[in-house]
Amino acid sequence: MNSNPSVGTVVKVVKSGNRYNAVDNQGNKWTHAIITSTRKNNYNKGKAIELREKDGKQYWYGVPMEKFTTVQNVPTKPAEVEVPDGHAEVVDFINNSYSLKPKGLIMKELKWKYLIRSAVRGKNIMMTGQAGCGKTLAAKSLVNSLDRPEYYFNLGATQDPRSTLIGNVHYNKAKGTFFSESLFVKAIQTPNAVILLDELTRAHPDAWNILMPVLDYGQRYLRLDEADGQDTIKVADGVTFIATANIGNEYTATRQLDKALLDRFTVIEVDLLTQEEEFGLLKYMFPTVEEKTLENVSSITSLTRAEALTENPRISSGVSTRTSVEIAGLLFDGFSLLESADITIYPQYDSTGGVDSERTFVKQIVQKFVSDESGEELFTEHDVEDVDSNF
Ligand SMILES: Nc1ncnc2c1ncn2[C@@H]1O[C@H](COP(=O)(O)OP(=O)(O)OP(=O)(O)O)[C@@H](O)[C@H]1O
Ligand SMILES: [Mg+2]
Repeated sequence: MNSNPSVGTVVKVVKSGNRYNAVDNQGNKWTHAIITSTRKNNYNKGKAIELREKDGKQYWYGVPMEKFTTVQNVPTKPAEVEVPDGHAEVVDFINNSYSLKPKGLIMKELKWKYLIRSAVRGKNIMMTGQAGCGKTLAAKSLVNSLDRPEYYFNLGATQDPRSTLIGNVHYNKAKGTFFSESLFVKAIQTPNAVILLDELTRAHPDAWNILMPVLDYGQRYLRLDEADGQDTIKVADGVTFIATANIGNEYTATRQLDKALLDRFTVIEVDLLTQEEEFGLLKYMFPTVEEKTLENVSSITSLTRAEALTENPRISSGVSTRTSVEIAGLLFDGFSLLESADITIYPQYDSTGGVDSERTFVKQIVQKFVSDESGEELFTEHDVEDVDSNF
């Protein structure tokens, strides 16, 4: 798969499980390049989507479906996304899999290949790592790269695990009491499905209990104690589960995860981006924003991350890549670096304690990078020197 669609590419949205995928008429998959709402809206309207460019900015635009069949998409040869069976082919597939990683996801080759390998080998995968470092993005990209039926469940947002994972008992006059099974029941019965369990660690403990036998390699069934007749459902062959963990900012918090649950997964830790990697990402996403400013953003965020990792950190966590991307988006829309930091970074840090507060500390770091830009001063020379001496 080529990771960069060219202007003029027209895609059609096809539903796979409960996901909306975008494919062009050469069979290239562009799901990762188009935001979910655009794919979903155009699917519902029966429209195709075209990549257009205006003022140097690219955007996806809904167009009549006829365009999908008539347009001559650039015949980029798609990488083989059919997952092979033979051992030599599997090894080959894994070795060449880095080309399947979308450009917009920054992840080291070894990690990505390990992810692909775990999926190809049918392991349950649990992505861990700090907030906003790309766990969900990596899991979604992995799912996109494999040509298999896909299902997405956000368990962190689920209030009622039973109805999401098993189903509901209903009543109506004609049928009396009846059971309607959940989408999850359908998902696990789909051979070779890839099932994304986002924010599994935020789920209600009831969800964990329900999932325990489903995820166990020796059991692989779902117990339907609410349904009549059949009390268990077997997980179909080739089903892969990919979960993400939201465990706060401390590495040690992994221990708070339920041990029995964690034991059922191959754990893949998603790394924090280095300053260079983050700068590269921001530049890739916002090529029209001044480089120097993007460099300042990545310097600010990596300094906060380095501080949080010291023995006696003055801030409990660093600024995430999610926040960096938000800042760059604000810069792109004309906000200054100082304004962007004010809106996105400062509220994440406690201001109690005045000059000794976490917020004052991050403000000082930001100040180091904005003074040359705008001349705005937040602190006296003395305060800034104080911060300088610590880096
Ligand atoms: N490694 C990365 N490569 C590219 N973009 C990234 C990366 N990490 C974070 N981002 C950006 O930050 C956003 C948030 O990332 P994502 O949702 O994957 O975080 P997460 O690790 O799942 O966070 P949370 O723990 O809060 O669920 C992404 O949409 C993307 O814009
Ligand atoms: Mg997430």
